[in-house]
Amino acid sequence: MPEAAPSFSPGLEGVVAAKSRLCQIDGTQGKLYYLGYAIEDLAEHSSFEEVCFLLWRERLPRARELEELRGQLQEYRQDCRDLFDFVGRFPHTARPMDMLRTCVSWLGCRDPHPGDASGEANFRRAVAVTAHFPTAVAAFHRFREKQSPVPPHARLSHAANFLYMLTGKQPSDLAARVMDVALILHADHEMNASTFASLVTASTMSDLYSALTTGVGTLKGPLHGGANEAVVQMLEKIGSVENVESYLSEAFAQKKKIMGFGHRVYKTYDPRARIFKRYADELSRADGDRRFFEINERIEELMQKRVGSHGIYPNVDFYSGIVYRSLGVASDLFTPIFSIARAAGWTAHVLESWQKNRIYRPASVYEGPGPRAYVPLDER
Ligand code: CMC
Repeated sequence: MPEAAPSFSPGLEGVVAAKSRLCQIDGTQGKLYYLGYAIEDLAEHSSFEEVCFLLWRERLPRARELEELRGQLQEYRQDCRDLFDFVGRFPHTARPMDMLRTCVSWLGCRDPHPGDASGEANFRRAVAVTAHFPTAVAAFHRFREKQSPVPPHARLSHAANFLYMLTGKQPSDLAARVMDVALILHADHEMNASTFASLVTASTMSDLYSALTTGVGTLKGPLHGGANEAVVQMLEKIGSVENVESYLSEAFAQKKKIMGFGHRVYKTYDPRARIFKRYADELSRADGDRRFFEINERIEELMQKRVGSHGIYPNVDFYSGIVYRSLGVASDLFTPIFSIARAAGWTAHVLESWQKNRIYRPASVYEGPGPRAYVPLDER
């Protein structure tokens, strides 16, 4: 029997690239689960540290285990002197995601035992890199603002520490909780572009840092992690609720995509967007500044009429940008925050894949010319 021609799926849509126990999405019902736990329950009752344990160890921790993980993260976080030195040498004009990508690569160069590929060594690396991501982002931001970096606080959570290292002030309970939930919501998301890219790198038996460097570089793009920054830029451009309709009409006439809408998997409301929307509402009420929230709501209402029937709904990025803005976070740090959270998911997927590794080596459909004779340079 002749061999069937390989089928081509642009963007690998519908192609199954791995088996995983970590994360499940039901794109039709708008559901997201980590190891079977609904994202709504995790956002309501859990913490980022607990979710890290869940993704890395594939079960919820007992109280003592959670304390132990918090202690390990804290210990790695305190080890930040040379990280400050390294981050302080970047040009202040560098884009934070470019800094972070380079910084993760540098963390690999400072690993005292780079050749140790044991499961325990890689688990320790996963905890260490996850601990270092917020420190690198916060310190870089302070350097470029001509401020000294703030060493981590010994008693604050991962999320609260990020805000503390960024601003030098202990965040309010609400701000710390919102950041914690943001990290939980972004911790993992099944086979997305950056996780897949990390897995490709890991599948060559390269190393964890190289896989994460690939992940950060892939997340940076506006079709993946960078959309919430673009949403805030769009809101600034729109300016007021009255301008939304004309802005959308013009964007559709020019066949422009509206950032923060649409998803490869969700064909209904992204459950993460629903949770972010609630916090965006709460924070804008607390601030007394409802302008961006109201513009967002109007965009959502008009988009629902235009493209809702095509399965295009708000995604995680639609409300997250205005949440971070309410917390006083600079807009070019939004994608780095996504990375801070996704460090957990990337590392978990890589550790899982190494339990049963096979190198990724897909195929492509050749569309070039057939075999032909080489023409010497002076005869062309
Ligand atoms: N605004 C208007 N139309 C859209 C949008 C949008 N945001 N998203 C998709 N469409 C239309 C698109 O024009 C296309 O229409 P047609 O079939 O008539 O050409 C159809 O929907 C399918 O779109 P696609 O781009 O082929 O779908 P995809 O699965 O390749 O892309 C996506 C998914 C998220 C890249 C895309 O929806 C998009 O570019 N959205 C805007 C960027 C964005 O918000 N990204 C954040 C994604 S969520 C974070 C994450 O999990 O990574």
